[in-house]
Amino acid sequence: MRKASGGHTRLLIQLIDFLSIRRRPDREKYLRQFLPLTDVHRQRLKLGDAADGTVRDALCDLSGPELEATLSTKEWEDMQYGYRERVTDTHLDHIEELPQRLPDLFASAACRAEKAGFDGVELHYAHAYTMASFLSATNTRKDGYGGSRENRVRLPLEVYQTVRSATSAQFAVGCRYLSDEIIEAGNRVEDACYFARCFADAGMDFLSHSRGGKFDDAKQPKVGWAAYPYTGRSGYGCMPGYISDAQGPFGRNIEPVSCIRAALREAGLMTPVVMAGGIYSFHQAEACLANENADIVGFARQALADPDWFRKVELGYGGEVMLCRYSNYREGLDQKHKQVTCELWDRQQLDEPGVRKSIDGRRRLLAPDWEPGDGS
Ligand SMILES: Cc1cc2nc3c(=O)[nH]c(=O)nc-3n(C[C@H](O)[C@H](O)[C@H](O)COP(=O)(O)O)c2cc1C
Ligand code: SF4
Repeated sequence: MRKASGGHTRLLIQLIDFLSIRRRPDREKYLRQFLPLTDVHRQRLKLGDAADGTVRDALCDLSGPELEATLSTKEWEDMQYGYRERVTDTHLDHIEELPQRLPDLFASAACRAEKAGFDGVELHYAHAYTMASFLSATNTRKDGYGGSRENRVRLPLEVYQTVRSATSAQFAVGCRYLSDEIIEAGNRVEDACYFARCFADAGMDFLSHSRGGKFDDAKQPKVGWAAYPYTGRSGYGCMPGYISDAQGPFGRNIEPVSCIRAALREAGLMTPVVMAGGIYSFHQAEACLANENADIVGFARQALADPDWFRKVELGYGGEVMLCRYSNYREGLDQKHKQVTCELWDRQQLDEPGVRKSIDGRRRLLAPDWEPGDGS
């Protein structure tokens, strides 16, 4: 792609780390197989030295409220939502050791990316990923990597520094993080401004911004499904759909990102700022640049809805752009681990010779070709 564009287009890849998450278990299965029995269960059930089988039978016989009063908050949540690790689970060795292990893991991934020919990496410090959880206001680790903002940004900076020193000077290294976590007691734009100054001071090449997308307020999944961080209010903040308030799904990240950019410039830091979220039209994107809301504008769903958006706009065929419906049809596919396609084109011309289809053979994987004049 870089060659085909004469060096104009650069390719960056995101580096992601995430902790374990399991599917929501069936109640009986959880109580009989997964729940480790403790003295607390025995005490609460008044079953003293009873055999494990007896205790498990008694748990299964409890009503919902009785069971909730017998299990710990974490056990109840594991049963209702599925077991999920958090960065604060420092009683687990591998979680306690994350600050020692993650910098090298990110650095070796970055080296592989550079060797493979990418122009840079975006360290994923956003949404529900591990590094976002370190930055989060909900991070209460007591080992110097949680609590205050200074402590919460420490590991993200150490990861960046290790990646930077393992890669060449021409290789771009930046991060994606949240302008607002959109969860109760989460980071707000003031926190994001603070992190932006830290990242820019450290020398990051760009700062890219998303919003929300957290597990904290995700909807309860069905039995057999895993929680998905784009189903609650913060998920809506990340990928707003057309069922919305007066602002609609459009440009909800413009204002916070604009504040972050202004805070950087005030501090004399010129690091390029990337903004995404509900951008669909050329004029809207152009206005963000003209108004100095951001230095680079990105979009996801509109590019999926019409992969020829860029050519159409550049060549003066903006009227032929297929506009995204913000229905989040693809989110349903992603959540079910199906190949992501777009409702606007994935059933079109399915009999076209050589068309590439999804595994179930029912959807096309790539949008039909477009050439100037096709729509006239
Ligand atoms: C199909 C799809 C896949 C996505 N994958 C990622 C991802 O891997 N990393 C990421 O940071 N954001 C991802 N996102 C979120 C987008 O980067 C973006 O923040 C969000 O969709 C809001 O922008 P939009 O309104 O332009 O879609 C994805 C979004 C879509 C639609
Ligand atoms: S399926 Fe297509 S039109 Fe619908 S929200 Fe996703 S990208 Fe937009």
